[in-house]
Amino acid sequence: MKKVVILTGAGMSAESGISTFRDSGGLWEEYRVEDVATIEGYQRNPELVLNFYNERRRQLPLVRPCHGHELVAELEKDFDVTVITQNVDNLHERAGSTKVIHLHGELDKATSTWSPNDPKQIVTLPPDHPDIHIGDTAADGSQLRPFIVWFGEPVPEIERAAMISSKADIFVVIGTSLNVYPAAGLIQYVPENAPIYLIDPKDVPWTSGHRFHHIKKGASEGMEELTQLLQKERL
Ligand code: APR
Repeated sequence: MKKVVILTGAGMSAESGISTFRDSGGLWEEYRVEDVATIEGYQRNPELVLNFYNERRRQLPLVRPCHGHELVAELEKDFDVTVITQNVDNLHERAGSTKVIHLHGELDKATSTWSPNDPKQIVTLPPDHPDIHIGDTAADGSQLRPFIVWFGEPVPEIERAAMISSKADIFVVIGTSLNVYPAAGLIQYVPENAPIYLIDPKDVPWTSGHRFHHIKKGASEGMEELTQLLQKERL
């Protein structure tokens, strides 16, 4: 089976009702990134950051995968699909995708402030107890924090994501402004002869020399068109 690698961003979940970051009305219009999405912001005011993610986490059970998530999962019938997502929601998994790499962490998980990437410290927060409060501790006794990769922190999954991107037969980019590195840099690893499809209703800054086919539609309609286009590729 051909390997299809799909890099997704906030636009993938927009049709599920989860706001993007940099569109008008996006999250970064309401909150300052430096206050809620940086390690310095967390050290300066942990309660503000815990509440920001508590609010977003409480939204998770209220939203569901959009048709685009479902079509991404259905591609697994004909292709060896790996989703590399910048999103921290669990909508790809809930739609049925079986191989999902979260570059920026997972909203429904929590970890240790001292060793955030130690697997022994990572716990899943149950939907009926989604909040993290000051005083909640991880296994190592430190303050429990969201299992989110903040600006200024390493992206542990990037090496694995780059290796997988370098083996793609087909690469797809859905709903990301390609503003944030190292995620946006994954395109550099895609083999020269692998077609790249971009699904986004807007133009996005494309710095790679790699040619791409822009499906200028939303995630769901765009995935409908891509599914048709890939029919001939599936052999
Ligand atoms: N379908 C597809 N794409 C859409 C849709 C839609 N319905 N609506 C908006 N988009 C596109 C926008 O045109 C934009 O290109 O989704 C993209 C959203 O870009 P951002 O808001 O910048 O989100 P993203 O690229 O995922 O941000 C990357 O930045 O703040 C950090 O960690 C955060 O993971 C996030 C990272």
